[in-house]
Amino acid sequence: MQPARTPIAELLKASGPVASATVAGWVKTRRDAKDFSFIQLNDGSCLASLQVIVAEATEGHARIRETTTGSAVRIEGELVESPAQGQRYELKARRLEILGTCAEDYPLQKKRHSDEFLRTIGHLRSRTNKYGALFRIRSRLAWAVHDFFQRRGFHYIHTPIITGADCEGAGEMFRVTTLQGDAGGRALSRGDFTEDFFGKEAHLTVSGQLAVESYCMGLGQVYAFGPTFRAENSNTSRHAAEFWMIEPEIAFADLADDMQLAEDFVRHLLDFVCTDCQEDLALFKQFVDPEVEARLAGVRAAEFVRLPYGEAVEILKAARVDFEYTPEWGADLQTEHERYLTETHFKAPVFVHDWPRDIKAFYMRQNDDGRTVAAMDLLVPRIGELIGGSQREERHDRLLARMDEMGFRREDYWWYLDTRRFGTAPHAGFGLGFERLLMFATGVSNIRDVIPFPRTPRNLEF
Ligand code: 4AD
Ligand code: MG
Repeated sequence: MQPARTPIAELLKASGPVASATVAGWVKTRRDAKDFSFIQLNDGSCLASLQVIVAEATEGHARIRETTTGSAVRIEGELVESPAQGQRYELKARRLEILGTCAEDYPLQKKRHSDEFLRTIGHLRSRTNKYGALFRIRSRLAWAVHDFFQRRGFHYIHTPIITGADCEGAGEMFRVTTLQGDAGGRALSRGDFTEDFFGKEAHLTVSGQLAVESYCMGLGQVYAFGPTFRAENSNTSRHAAEFWMIEPEIAFADLADDMQLAEDFVRHLLDFVCTDCQEDLALFKQFVDPEVEARLAGVRAAEFVRLPYGEAVEILKAARVDFEYTPEWGADLQTEHERYLTETHFKAPVFVHDWPRDIKAFYMRQNDDGRTVAAMDLLVPRIGELIGGSQREERHDRLLARMDEMGFRREDYWWYLDTRRFGTAPHAGFGLGFERLLMFATGVSNIRDVIPFPRTPRNLEF
């Protein structure tokens, strides 16, 4: 058995000196003085590194020159109050053991590296302060998502990743097949997939919504939290081909209830990150985005605006701004419009609701005006759309009519339609893009830098 090690995060919180402690981690830097070497050791448990003093008398000192930046070591010693500034404790090593030396071409030497370069070494970037902090925050926020819903009695549903339905109807799906060569080509050209693995056309899911809706109609309040896939060929800083989405669904609820849930959820996550992740967040304020703290505080203090889409368009038309895309009733909002509304006009998060039906998905509840649906987007500063959601069309006849109109094949959605025949009820839900939340919380401006291994057009390394 390996000797028990104490995470550095835990040691740094010790209430006093510790006679014997064992740590293990990776050497950030080593500095050799006349009688001692100083090692900055990081084990990923927290941002701070532990200073270790290695004297000549330390067992294993003979190999001190091999403890270069990046090497893995285990050290046993005494935790003492540190005379140095900026740290409470340091470790006086009694025994040093090298677990893995680090080759000379280790790319993470001392100097700061660009995000672009670090993307090319995605398998190593968690060793840097910034990405270590980022992925600790990501982990904590994922936990906070479950905490929020579980405390409110929501049930976590694992929705399928391989699907036979296109939820958003936007056709941005990745195909899943085991057919090879000519057989694949024939199936595609004939639209006949009987020879394929599932005997029918299969794709990676773009959203767990349709599946989670059906579970909502039995369990009352549910949520999905999983990876989703979109073959959008848009190389933007806010879109990834693989991203994680949180999708709650509530029965006996309307669009107002949905917006309230979304507001409570976002507030919970932001309150959580500001209190739970202080040390890691401070790094982002210092090195990534000096405004991030103020922006978070601003949103937490702000009233969330509820703005009908029609009024949003009027505000944009009246704005004295030279938009690249002219705002017009019936058109989708562009990021420039979203940001104007939330950053400039309201200086607050904004729910834009009741959108033109023609630009929205088939499952959204049709309003009585005949031209809008009960949909909402939540816009936040810097990001634009963080959440998209809606009240669902629970009326069987209205849903059928809309699907026919949009050219959906009823037989592909028979099970979804069943939920409207067997005790249908008003219900609503939304999807929050987890990476966009992380971008908002940290000020990181590119989605590629908030997911461990980003998948974007022409990029599938690791
Ligand atoms: O607005 P969207 O497309 O909504 C849905 O998929 C609904 N079925 C959700 C629901 O009602 N259950 O996507 C929801 C959110 C967006 O607001 C955005 O934050 C994020 O998912 N998102 C993406 N994030 C990263 N990369 C992409 N390509 C994204 N597409 C959407
Ligand atoms: Mg959307």
